[in-house]
Amino acid sequence: MKNQILCMGSINIDLVMYMDRMPEPGETIVTDNYQTFPGGKGGNQASTASLLGGEVKYFTRLGKDNFSRELTSKQEKNGVDMKDVIYMDNATAGIAMIRVDKKGQNSISFTPGANRLLTPKDVEQNAHIFDNCKYLLITMEIAPETVYKAIETASKKGLTVILDPSPVPDNGIPDEIAELVNYAKPNETEAEALTNIHIENRESASKALKILKQKGFKNPILTLSDAGALTYIDGNEFFIKPVKVNSIDSTAAGDIFLGAFAAALSNEKPYEYCLNFAKTAAAISTTKKGAQSSIPTIEEINAYMKG
Ligand code: RIB
Repeated sequence: MKNQILCMGSINIDLVMYMDRMPEPGETIVTDNYQTFPGGKGGNQASTASLLGGEVKYFTRLGKDNFSRELTSKQEKNGVDMKDVIYMDNATAGIAMIRVDKKGQNSISFTPGANRLLTPKDVEQNAHIFDNCKYLLITMEIAPETVYKAIETASKKGLTVILDPSPVPDNGIPDEIAELVNYAKPNETEAEALTNIHIENRESASKALKILKQKGFKNPILTLSDAGALTYIDGNEFFIKPVKVNSIDSTAAGDIFLGAFAAALSNEKPYEYCLNFAKTAAAISTTKKGAQSSIPTIEEINAYMKG
């Protein structure tokens, strides 16, 4: 058996509208370009990790509605083991309403549905799911206390914890949880929420990275949209150069980054390779529409990395 990845976080249906620009408050914009995609930060990361060579299983709650069924079969089709998911009566899958403008930038509003109903007690009662796993890949959009319980459980059982702190809870992330996280990948907005540093250039990004490290995150990876990313390698700040592409939809680029990173890590690749693999996967994904529909193949990523 490979080094198994346990994935947690939201699984949603994405209702996406494409438009030239975002509406102003009070304004209505008409668009005839509407599509639905399987999404959710957790679902996107799990599918990416699985399609890019990881062995992945999922733990969450879903409903018994059509969306939940559709999302389950999509995850399974992508190779994710869904047998530990708890299916509930009277609950629906999460729904994300996404607007994408002509620069490929998006704004998301989200209703969590069954995702939010996963409790710390669920984690405690199902702690055996963590056994035989080497990694916990977890994102927010579920109750923060459930995320923290999962991180504590994983850490006690010796798993490597990979956290996407997205979105950052209103009261931040406790330092005692940060200390249990091996890899954390905030974007600029999330890093600002975690550090109180407004990131506008390389200098402020470096400052935020330092504070993330001081908070306890062992390997912070600060992604800077299309301007690359910053981390530490062997104690020195390391800049991950951006990959230039013609971006049309950045939805899920961060999820695809982390799913690809986890897949490479679980295949025991060196840290720098994992970062390059992840940034390439994320960049390619922005050239395609949607969340899971934009996950590139290993062949596409390898071709880009060689070129
Ligand atoms: O990161 C992108 C994801 O965020 C979308 O797929 C949407 O479901 C929201 O969770």
